[in-house]
Amino acid sequence: MDNHYRAEPYRIKMVETIKQTTKEKRIEYLKNAGYNPFSLRSEDVYIDLLTDSGTGAMSQEQWAALMRGDEAYAGSQSFYRLEGVVKTITQYRYFIPAHQGRGAEQVVLPQLVKNDGMVFISNIHFDTTRAHVELAGARAIDCVIDACYDVETYHPFKGNFDTEKLAEIIRSKGPENVAGIIMTVTNNSAGGQPISMENMRTVSALAKSYRIPVIIDGARYAENAYFVKQREAGYQNRSILSISQELFQLADIFLMSAKKDGLSNMGGIIAIKDDEALFTKCRTYIVPMEGFPTYGGLSGRDMDALAIGLQEALDEDYLAHRIDQVRYLGDRLKAAGVPVQYPIGGHAVFVDCGTIAPHIPFDQFPAQSVVNELYIEAGVRAVEIGSFLLGRDPDTNENLQNPKEWMRLTIPRRTYTRNHLDVVADAVIAVYQRRTSLKGLCFDYEPPVLRHFTARLKPIE
Ligand code: F0G
Repeated sequence: MDNHYRAEPYRIKMVETIKQTTKEKRIEYLKNAGYNPFSLRSEDVYIDLLTDSGTGAMSQEQWAALMRGDEAYAGSQSFYRLEGVVKTITQYRYFIPAHQGRGAEQVVLPQLVKNDGMVFISNIHFDTTRAHVELAGARAIDCVIDACYDVETYHPFKGNFDTEKLAEIIRSKGPENVAGIIMTVTNNSAGGQPISMENMRTVSALAKSYRIPVIIDGARYAENAYFVKQREAGYQNRSILSISQELFQLADIFLMSAKKDGLSNMGGIIAIKDDEALFTKCRTYIVPMEGFPTYGGLSGRDMDALAIGLQEALDEDYLAHRIDQVRYLGDRLKAAGVPVQYPIGGHAVFVDCGTIAPHIPFDQFPAQSVVNELYIEAGVRAVEIGSFLLGRDPDTNENLQNPKEWMRLTIPRRTYTRNHLDVVADAVIAVYQRRTSLKGLCFDYEPPVLRHFTARLKPIE
């Protein structure tokens, strides 16, 4: 863009009041929440960076579209409008809505597991994806490039697969035991880092040679396409839509949590390129799990809002501001010496808390300790993506160690201003400056699956 006077490419038409609380109160709220910010009430949070999932602001066009929602149980107009948009973007033959990303996962992944001992391979599985892989009786193997964990060194596509390692895993497991290769775009779990088109092409060709299905876990595919346009040779003059279409052609199945790049508060997508038998199975299976195949757990109005949101998310002015905003926060932290995943990713700033609090062992959750301190400091709610989230080995029940102990500062879309991000930056820097006083945590209550959502913790004195 040649105009260097650039601010938010929207203005505010409706506001939602948020309130700052006192430090004293926050200490009490956090204790009552079992030192797990998932259990805080949102009214006690000033700036909520827990997730970018379903937390964005809808546009006036989306709010208007809600009024057109057709709530027919079967064959609603809203379904057909959404189907038209999904088919245009993916150029796939089949579409089924789901209530959100994990709804799509629970329907599709079990269909791909043919026998015992199968694996899925991903750059990095998102946590619910990993859970559904395991619930389907398979195992999840991550295969991202080593550079992904080299926080300080620039790499344009830290979400890339290590393709040599991928080939090696396929050979050692036997291709018949690989249920699918899941390309997570962008790669959420290590910084919202993009995958290059070239890398996806290599992965896709390898999978094809072994007849292994390729699944795009594309919650943030539009942000990935934007990075491809910015950083990969040959894409500078392409539209985000055409880059996205190229990306989808490299896979067989598209699963999407539409709460991210669908710019909607709820929704999920299952799209299948051309496998009619798989589509038929999913369409049968979705009825008891999510709902009739033309609504899949969504109301008609949700589907209409999503149809608009999917198109708005491909707008380049929107994406440029979105990615800039996240980078602004990251740059401020980096300038103050706070270790962050670099370059800054698409949806969040990932703070490397293993480096901030090396005195806290991984199974006392250093990043959770930083997250809690940040809430006490300024009422900012972030989220841990580290060993607390990763959980235990399903076979040995030992605590697994995440390669990194991240605090994720996740930026909702079209929601907060630069002033909010300055408050966040100032607060993170204040916590960083008193990092040696941080304490580890242990369990008061540990749930058996996806423990980080509902666990109760206590500080180790
Ligand atoms: N895949 C990815 C890459 C995700 O980031 C998420 C959700 C899902 C699948 C599951 O989708 O939540 O709609 O069921 N990520 C959210 C997050 C929750 O905070 O990163 P869902």
